[in-house]
Amino acid sequence: MTHRILIVDDERNARDALKSLLTDEGYEVREASDGEEGLEALAEFRPDAVLCDVRMPKMDGLTLLKRAREDGHEGLFLMMTAFGSIETAVEAMRRGAEDYLTKPLDVGAVTARLEKVLEKRQLVRDNQMLRERIREKYQFSHIVGDSPELQAVFDVVKRAAPTRATVLILGESGTGKELIAQAIHEESPRRAKPFVKVNCAALSETLLESELFGHEKGSFTGAVGRREGRFELADGGTLFLDEIGDISPGLQVKLLRVLQQREFERVGGTTTLKVDVRVVAATNKDLTAEVKGSRFREDLYYRLNVVSVTLPPLRKRKSDIPALVAHFIERYSELHGKEVRGLAPGTLNALLSYDWPGNVRELGNVVERAVVLARGTELTADDLPPTMRGPRPRDRSPDTLIPGATLYEIEREAILRTLEMVDGSTSRAADVLGISVRKIQYRLKEYAQQDADASRPSNN
Ligand SMILES: Nc1ncnc2c1ncn2[C@@H]1O[C@H](COP(=O)(O)OP(=O)(O)OP(=O)(O)O)[C@@H](O)[C@H]1O
Ligand SMILES: [Mg+2]
Repeated sequence: MTHRILIVDDERNARDALKSLLTDEGYEVREASDGEEGLEALAEFRPDAVLCDVRMPKMDGLTLLKRAREDGHEGLFLMMTAFGSIETAVEAMRRGAEDYLTKPLDVGAVTARLEKVLEKRQLVRDNQMLRERIREKYQFSHIVGDSPELQAVFDVVKRAAPTRATVLILGESGTGKELIAQAIHEESPRRAKPFVKVNCAALSETLLESELFGHEKGSFTGAVGRREGRFELADGGTLFLDEIGDISPGLQVKLLRVLQQREFERVGGTTTLKVDVRVVAATNKDLTAEVKGSRFREDLYYRLNVVSVTLPPLRKRKSDIPALVAHFIERYSELHGKEVRGLAPGTLNALLSYDWPGNVRELGNVVERAVVLARGTELTADDLPPTMRGPRPRDRSPDTLIPGATLYEIEREAILRTLEMVDGSTSRAADVLGISVRKIQYRLKEYAQQDADASRPSNN
């Protein structure tokens, strides 16, 4: 691909020399003799890169750069500054120039630097495209579940994601907090920038501090070289602070400062660093209780809790189970090279009656195990862990059930068996039965409640 290069310089000789050099290198070249002409050429020629002199009549190089950015031109600017005017070079970089060359030009260096910036941009673009494609493929689609509870979570995520508000994600272990944190990043304008995760419970206070903020050489035993922290790595993107409920009081203070002022120092460092980072935090602790017990700073809690989402435990949204099971069956069948397609009669009932202390993670594990053990194309109750196979009084066949059963019991049997037949899709089950999805979900919730009541030891 031929790159287009615009040369903006008021000195004719300098332009000519550059033009013949770059043309020989195979670039398509256009010239302009001052900033105003340069601006016109930008619009018409749409150059990939601009070699731009700083001092020029009518409009100088820095102004041209500024106008170009305001007008949304994406061409890379390489400023040509007089030898020694380092302030101008710094100012140019601050305004978004890619590089600068000092005059008199070292012609050999010009093409090398040009190639380097063009290559770097290509990498960034490829990366963006890749992310874009992954995003299209995974946008919420890998978060399975159509329960009203989960839809309410999606709704908040969709509204909060495009902003830079800090989001606090609460919920028991295995409910999908990390998935939601990723979705927030992917749904935000920061999606092309890094999503960086830190598990705050996994490290000692000293190590976590250096992990977050980086350190200078020799700042503590073991700090061999200088190291960038996660806040720096996440610049422009999202930092996911997992298990935030576990950070020490000392670090809580430091975190509060970054959240408030967006600045910090590396451990052992004196330079104040500024970053543009969106923070998403998660915990399975009850943070309000932590605040009440003075283990978590209230001011930090409010900083984190600008927007909060709570992922309900799976036992409170059992209508997500059929879809999750279908999702995991597909995933693990493929992974383990099995031909499992669905559930044998009665299996869904066992899954719905269970309490799911480990939530979606546990469900995933149970299904994976069952897929691995399955002998045929359907998972049976025998493929489930023994603890889940308990007696199921309602697991009778419809023929023996109908005489003498209430209409409600028959409806239950019809709904559960139809769900099994359609691999857990509530919408397809609704079609088959001629009732609304809402009604199915409502009933599933009732069944779950009844099962919970039935399994609770009675008081009399
Ligand atoms: N709605 C969902 N759809 C599909 N997969 C899910 C869903 N929720 C959770 N999972 C899967 O369940 C597992 C646990 O989810 P995740 O790690 O996000 O939970 P968590 O809340 O962060 O748990 P912990 O508190 O233990 O860190 C992951 O493998 C995740 O992909
Ligand atoms: Mg997690």
